[in-house]
Amino acid sequence: MLVRVVIDQPWNVPADVLAIPILGDLALDGPLGELDRRSSGELAALAAFGEINSERYCGTLVKPGDNAARRLLAIGAGNAAELDRETAVRIGAAAERRLGGRTVRSLAIWLDPLAAVLDGGADAVAGLVARGVVEGAFDPSTIYRDNVTTSPPRLDELILISGSGDAVALTRAAERGVIMGEGANLARTLSNRSANDVSPEVLAEEAWTIAERHGLWIDVMGPDRATELGMGMFMAVGRGSDNPPRMIVMRSGSEGQRDSLDRHLAIIGKGVTFDSGGISIKPSDRMEEMKMDKSGACTVIAAIATVARLAPGTPLLAVAPAVENMPGPHSTRPGDVVRALNGKWVDITNTDAEGRLILGDAMTYAERLGATHLVDVATLTGAVSRALGHLVTGAFAQPATFFSDVAAAAARAGERYWQLPLVDEYIKDMESWYGDMQNSSGAEGSLVKSGLFLREFATRPWAHLDIGGTGYIRKATPYAARGATGVTHATLVELALAGAA
Ligand code: BES
Ligand code: ZN
Ligand code: MN
Repeated sequence: MLVRVVIDQPWNVPADVLAIPILGDLALDGPLGELDRRSSGELAALAAFGEINSERYCGTLVKPGDNAARRLLAIGAGNAAELDRETAVRIGAAAERRLGGRTVRSLAIWLDPLAAVLDGGADAVAGLVARGVVEGAFDPSTIYRDNVTTSPPRLDELILISGSGDAVALTRAAERGVIMGEGANLARTLSNRSANDVSPEVLAEEAWTIAERHGLWIDVMGPDRATELGMGMFMAVGRGSDNPPRMIVMRSGSEGQRDSLDRHLAIIGKGVTFDSGGISIKPSDRMEEMKMDKSGACTVIAAIATVARLAPGTPLLAVAPAVENMPGPHSTRPGDVVRALNGKWVDITNTDAEGRLILGDAMTYAERLGATHLVDVATLTGAVSRALGHLVTGAFAQPATFFSDVAAAAARAGERYWQLPLVDEYIKDMESWYGDMQNSSGAEGSLVKSGLFLREFATRPWAHLDIGGTGYIRKATPYAARGATGVTHATLVELALAGAA
């Protein structure tokens, strides 16, 4: 898909579809009035009829009349005062998805109504909307099939129309947005693929291919090396499956190299290719969703590739512990005591609290490789979705200054997080008779305790992003297909790029 920025009025630009964002009460004056006049009053008539309004992501196709585009698409964008970056991305995505199954080669989007009210103006909007269009084109129903006719259209050209501004700068911003969207979609495709297709070995092969494509250093560790190194927690989860575990390590820049913020940032993603719960087996209801328990790993693998595309050579480490959590004669039993890579003895009271085990060893390993700052992403708990739902990602972090950096990256990315407390006193509940701690201790405060457990493996500034609620959605929305969402990809990329030279 080619992205073209046109500095012009929207009625002059030929395209199969022209998307017109509708903010607040439809005031048909200025350029919107001209679009309406040229549509022979069709926009006004449909607004009066109640068909066109500003309800977010609601799209209406309209006859173009004398406008240069062959169809108009009015797309609800909410109230001007509430327009934020997340909404800008979703408007792009919703426009693209509204055209599912239609024959569209060129989609034009008029940026001015959004650029007038969003911080960052047209440059920001161009990047966010372009990213949205790419993300909106994602359709997991085509991963295994090639006979799907309802997919969002494959565009030859995305045309972004701005009444003013520097076309070169806007094009650069839009191209960056496209790459961000492609990265999120790469994470989503990997994540949506089923567990019989993507084992830890296959995930490692995919990472290898991605690393070669983007000039990243990669190291993949199997069970022998992981055992020899002392990754007792990682191996405890991986040993129950016939599909052997893989510790995937990717790097951009050189070993231990500091970025312009004097960081060697590591992003660490939970890669459980299937979480049956192990011996502490899950109920069968919705167990099929646990193929997406690798979303964190898929996201960090995609994010380091995106960083390599946008700012090659930026120092960044990605670690993705990949395992299949299965019951069987070789599985870890509840009550087994294992030694973590950092030397702590861990009493595995629940084999379904496996994410924290593989992440703990991956975090220690990242620090051994020189990481100064850690961010982990994981579908770690069901509790986070009960607390925050599917729209807000739970975050734990220390110290507060590092959370501020993550929050600033999230704001640029247009993603929502809510910080949860690391309540020191609760660590007492995780004491073990046999080990330094147990990996699980009942329902009370279990979300906080998942963060406390991980904290035991961070000696540097660290943030934990729990995407158990936001990593995948069960129901399609106007702006996203069901399945993996790619959430946190944009935040991780923004966080890493803050340290680009
Ligand atoms: N992968 C799950 C968490 C999860 C469940 C994410 C449902 C998204 C949807 C994780 O490994 C898990 O099983 N967590 C347990 C922890 C408990 C045993 C302490 C949970 O949340 O129930
Ligand atoms: Zn899990
Ligand atoms: Mn589990």
